[in-house]
Amino acid sequence: MARALLFVPLTLSLFSATARAQLGTDSPDSTRPVQWRVMFTEDPAHRAVVAWTTEDDGVSTLYWDTQPHGGALAEYANTMECTSGRYSLSLHYYHHCSLTGLAPATSYYFVTETENDVSREFYFVTAHDDGRPFKLMAGGDSRSDRDQRRIMNDTIRALFEQHPDVVAFAHGGDYIEMGYSFGQFNEWMTDNELTIASDGRILPIIASRGNHEGSSDLMDQVFAEPGGAGTNYYTTVIGDYWFITLNTETSMAGDQRLFLEQQLQQAHLAEACFISAQYHRPAFPGVKDPSEARAEWVPLFEQYDADLILESDGHILKRTVPIRNEAEDPTGVIYVGEGGLGVSQRTPVTDRWFIQGPNAFAASQHHVILLDVSRTELAYRAIAPDLTVVDSVTLTSRRCMNTLEVKTPAQGAVLESGADSEITWITGGWVPTVDVDWSTDDGSTWMSIASGLANAERAEWTVPEVATTTGRVRVRSTAGAPEGVSGGFTIALPEKEPDPPEMPPPPPPDEQPNPMDMNGAADPIPQPENEVTTDPAVAEGCACTETERGAGSILGLFGIVGLLFLRRRR
Ligand SMILES: [Fe+2]
Repeated sequence: MARALLFVPLTLSLFSATARAQLGTDSPDSTRPVQWRVMFTEDPAHRAVVAWTTEDDGVSTLYWDTQPHGGALAEYANTMECTSGRYSLSLHYYHHCSLTGLAPATSYYFVTETENDVSREFYFVTAHDDGRPFKLMAGGDSRSDRDQRRIMNDTIRALFEQHPDVVAFAHGGDYIEMGYSFGQFNEWMTDNELTIASDGRILPIIASRGNHEGSSDLMDQVFAEPGGAGTNYYTTVIGDYWFITLNTETSMAGDQRLFLEQQLQQAHLAEACFISAQYHRPAFPGVKDPSEARAEWVPLFEQYDADLILESDGHILKRTVPIRNEAEDPTGVIYVGEGGLGVSQRTPVTDRWFIQGPNAFAASQHHVILLDVSRTELAYRAIAPDLTVVDSVTLTSRRCMNTLEVKTPAQGAVLESGADSEITWITGGWVPTVDVDWSTDDGSTWMSIASGLANAERAEWTVPEVATTTGRVRVRSTAGAPEGVSGGFTIALPEKEPDPPEMPPPPPPDEQPNPMDMNGAADPIPQPENEVTTDPAVAEGCACTETERGAGSILGLFGIVGLLFLRRRR
C-alpha cells in the first residue's frame, strides 16, 4: 500500500513534466489542436472564448463541464460546435468557441476536438462578480526577441501558479514584430502555451491592439475579435473594478472618446471602486512623443478620477507621478508601463517631469505587472524575470470603503454572566469573515470569542462568569480591517442565595455524654408517649402549678392512711 502511495505522485509528476515539455514546442500539425487560448472581454464572470489552432480544417467541437473528466469525451456535460476560419495569409485554421451563461468564479474544464483529433484536458476559471480581492497581471510588447519572450512567459506562469487568484493577463499590444505575419503569430501562440499552469489551467487574455498589429486581421483571428473586429475597445468589469481597453491604432477622438466617457460615467453609476485603462501608445511616455491619448483621453481620466492607467510601446519600466492638469498632484492619475514582455529595453528619458522625483520610477527593465485589487486598495508591483519586485505603489480607493459597526451589546447594557446573549453587527462592502473578541478592560486587552467566522452579522455568546463594568466586544474582518467595537457594558455576577447557618460539627464519639451518667449533663430520659401517669392531677388534666400538684399528692397520701386506719378499727 505504501509503495502504491509513493507510486501515484511519482506518476503524476512524470506526467506533469511530460505535459509541460510538450507545451510551447508544438506547431500546428494536421487537425491536432494546439495553441489553446482563452479570452475575456466584457463579462468575464459569465462569458469567455476558447480558441485553438490546427493546420487543416475540420469540424471543431468543444467539450466542457464544471467537473474534470480527464479527457473522457462522453462524460462532459456540454458540447458545442465552434466557429472556424483560416488565418489571413496562412494555410492554418483558427477555431473559436464562444461560451455564455457561465457561472462566476467557477472552473470550466474542456477538451478541444477537430476532426477526431483531441487535446488533453485544460481548464480556466471565470471571474467573480462580487467584491472579493483578486489579482490581474499585465504587460506589453512581447515582440522581436523570442527567447526573452519565452523567459517572460515562464515568469508569467510562475506568478500564475504562485497566485491562483489571478483572473487574467491584460496584454498591451505589440505581440509580434510584423502584425501581418502568421509565421510570427504562430510562434507567439506556441510560446503562449508556456503561460499555462502545470495543472492545465489557462490564463485568460484581455487583449489590446498595438501599432505593430496595425490594422491586421490576424490580431482579431488570434484573440477572437475582442471588443469587435477592428474596433478593439471594450470594458472588462471584474467585481468592483472597471478595466477599460482602448485602441490607439484607430481614432482616439470621435466614437472612441465618446465610448470612453460613457464607460467612465457608467463606472461611477456602478460605484466602481477602481478604474483603470490599458492601451498601447502612451500619453505620458518615458521615451517617445505622447500619443493622441494625451489630448483625447487624459482630461477624461482626470475628470472621472481614473486611478491607474497601463501603457506600453516605450520598452521601459516607468511609473509617473500622480498627474492632474499637467502637473504632479496627489489627487491625480498614475500611468505605468511601458512594455517589457520580450522586446529589448530602452533607456528612459529621465528629464521628463512626470517620471522624476520620489513619487515616480523609470528604468530599463523587462517586467510583468501584478495588480492586487480589493475594494479599498489597488497595489501595483512591477516584477522582474527573477520574480523580484523592482517597483511598487499602493493606491487607496477614492470611492469605496468597507465598514463594520457593532450594534450589540449596546452601550450601558448589563449582561448576566453565564447567560446566552447575541452579538450583532452590520457591514458594508466586502467583509466575508470576521474575528470576534471581548475585553474586560475597555479594549486594552482582548480575548477571542471566535475567529474566521462567516460574516452572518450575528454570533451567539455565552457571557463569561467574570464581573466587569468595562466590557467591550470587538468584531474585525479577518483581513484586519474594517473593525467595530461595541459600547461599554457591564457583566454582573448572579445574586447568591443566603448561606445556611453553620452547624457545629458533631463531637467525637468518646466525648458524647452517657445518658446513664447522672453527673453528666445528659438529656432527660425520654418518656414513652403512651405512658400512664399515677399523678391524679396530671391524669385528670389538671392545669395546676407544681405547688398545687404537691399539695394534691400529700392530701392523697393522707386519704390512703385514713382508709387503712378505719379498716383496722372494724
Ligand atoms: Fe509599439
